[in-house]
Amino acid sequence: MSKVYFIGAGPGATDLITLRGARLIEEADVLIYAGSLVNREILDFNKKSDEIYNSASMNLDEVLDVTIKAVKEGKTVARVHTGDPSIYGAIKEQMDELEKHGIEFEVVPGVSSFVAAAAAIKKEFTLPGVSQTVICTRLEGRTPVPEKEKLEELAKHRASMALFLSVGMIDEVVARLTKHYAATTPVAVVKRATWPDEEIIICTLETLAENVKKHNIKKTAQILVGDFIETEYEKSKLYDSKFTHEYRQAK
Ligand SMILES: C[S@@+](CC[C@H](N)C(=O)[O-])C[C@H]1O[C@@H](n2cnc3c(N)ncnc32)[C@H](O)[C@@H]1O
Repeated sequence: MSKVYFIGAGPGATDLITLRGARLIEEADVLIYAGSLVNREILDFNKKSDEIYNSASMNLDEVLDVTIKAVKEGKTVARVHTGDPSIYGAIKEQMDELEKHGIEFEVVPGVSSFVAAAAAIKKEFTLPGVSQTVICTRLEGRTPVPEKEKLEELAKHRASMALFLSVGMIDEVVARLTKHYAATTPVAVVKRATWPDEEIIICTLETLAENVKKHNIKKTAQILVGDFIETEYEKSKLYDSKFTHEYRQAK
């Protein structure tokens, strides 16, 4: 039976999609991609289909109509989302409808932009003695954020943080974060991570807003926050010569 595949396209670079995702795109009869962020060149893995839809200009019903019609015609659908589909992907509402129609689907993970951004600045979110937690969140915009997850609430933990969908509200981001993070906390803004025009700013919270404005960054950026960007840290136990674990004896 034909199926729908929700595929994470990765952050931008066409060789950052999984082998599985690329193969499924290659084999699909119908492609629906989130055109506002997915690199259009990813669709070139498919040489056979001319049924390509850009969901940026479609509403949920229109996406579902195309998907359900295709499956009824025995066609396989690749629904291509940016980064990883489980993060701000709006896939649940699609999957729930497919389930109601008895349509089979599968989700193929992708490289999310928050890990692509960490790679771009060559940093590790989880340094021993610094932070063992990564908070992925956003500032509320037209989509609200639950009260318990307001940025200033999450900031209390001073964990490593990746902010999606928020760079356009940079003054507000800084105001909320500085309620708990020191003004000297290191931050990074990575715009269009892994795309040819990727841009990186590394500074501190106190200079973040002015730098973002100076570089005119208004969207498609990750804001990474926390001491993991620049600090002293403890070495890991994993590779400590005095530490025994399942695969290695201490020396
Ligand atoms: C609707 S969310 C989708 C997130 C996506 N599912 C992911 O896993 O990265 C869109 C937001 O993701 C972030 N984003 C997506 N691609 C990016 C990239 N290449 N570089 C930096 N941020 C990116 C931006 O914050 C953007 O506003």
